[in-house]
Amino acid sequence: MKTVLILILALVSMGLVTFQEKESKTQPKEVVLSKDSQSDKYGEVPFNHETHSLKSYSPDGQSVLTCVECHHTDQPAASLKPPLKTSEREAVLTTEALAAADAKPVKSCRACHLQAGDDSAPMPALQYPDKPAPTKLTNEVAYHLNCNLCHDKAIAARPALKGKAPGSNDCIPCHKPAG
Ligand code: HEC
Ligand code: HEC
Ligand code: HEC
Ligand code: HEC
Repeated sequence: MKTVLILILALVSMGLVTFQEKESKTQPKEVVLSKDSQSDKYGEVPFNHETHSLKSYSPDGQSVLTCVECHHTDQPAASLKPPLKTSEREAVLTTEALAAADAKPVKSCRACHLQAGDDSAPMPALQYPDKPAPTKLTNEVAYHLNCNLCHDKAIAARPALKGKAPGSNDCIPCHKPAG
């Protein structure tokens, strides 16, 4: 038991085993999202952080994504584009900025975008012009907006990506079947 624990701790400190933490300064290579899905149909979602942050994954395939395309609160208020308004970092997040000894860790999306039914903190919400009432940005809504809008744009711009990048209706295989 003790040796197993020591082994796990050693692997964690070597960065070989990563847990989804509430915040971290280590960029993951691959993450498995939705491990705790409440759905009986839609389970785990593998996400390759390395390809998405280092390769040309913009919708037109021409440029590398900025960190704040996804980590939208990690930029100064002055660089936020509407409808975004929440800023939690003085300087725009980059790999270099994160390497600084005094840099704050990056919060996971789930630190703010809670699962439906979790009332432990106020749920982020936005009033979209085409909706009658504010949209509650649960993990499901926020992740789907982030991942799916970009994939749908990319597939529309480059039809050859169909089957390579999951479109918004490719629930499975983006999610592994639950259970
Ligand atoms: C395409 C979207 C996307 C891009 C681009 C992106 N990230 Fe991430 N990042 C994520 C997701 C999703 C996670 C896992 C989130 C979670 O644990 O909730 C994550 C996790 C992280 C973590 C670990 C946070 C934690 O709490 O475990 C760090 C650090 C991080 N990213 C830094 C960066 C930096 C620096 C860049 C730019 C070089 C970047 N990311 C680009 C989506 C992205
Ligand atoms: C690009 C990949 C992708 C596609 C396509 C996708 N999802 Fe998701 N889905 C996610 C991610 C990522 C999350 C949030 C994961 C997390 O919180 O860890 C999520 C969350 C969910 C949740 C909430 C799970 C929970 O209890 O936390 C449900 C339900 C869900 N998706 C259903 C669907 C359905 C139905 C479709 C198709 C109409 C779909 N998804 C398409 C990636 C995707
Ligand atoms: C510190 C809390 C916090 C973190 C961390 C966070 N969000 Fe958000 N998110 C919000 C709030 C609050 C809003 C509402 C707009 C605002 O206040 O800027 C929002 C809005 C959004 C929206 C809607 C934006 C739009 O233009 O319609 C998406 C999509 C989103 N978040 C995805 C993510 C993803 C993906 C991550 C992780 C990579 C993440 N968020 C991390 C708090 C957060
Ligand atoms: C701003 C754009 C953008 C965002 C945001 C984004 N992706 Fe992608 N993703 C892409 C592009 C572009 C590709 C296809 C790249 C290629 O094959 O050239 C892709 C490919 C993928 C693939 C296929 C395997 C791979 O890694 O290439 C998966 C799975 C995937 N994305 C999951 C996700 C999930 C889950 C999220 C949300 C947490 C997400 N993506 C957010 C642009 C994006």
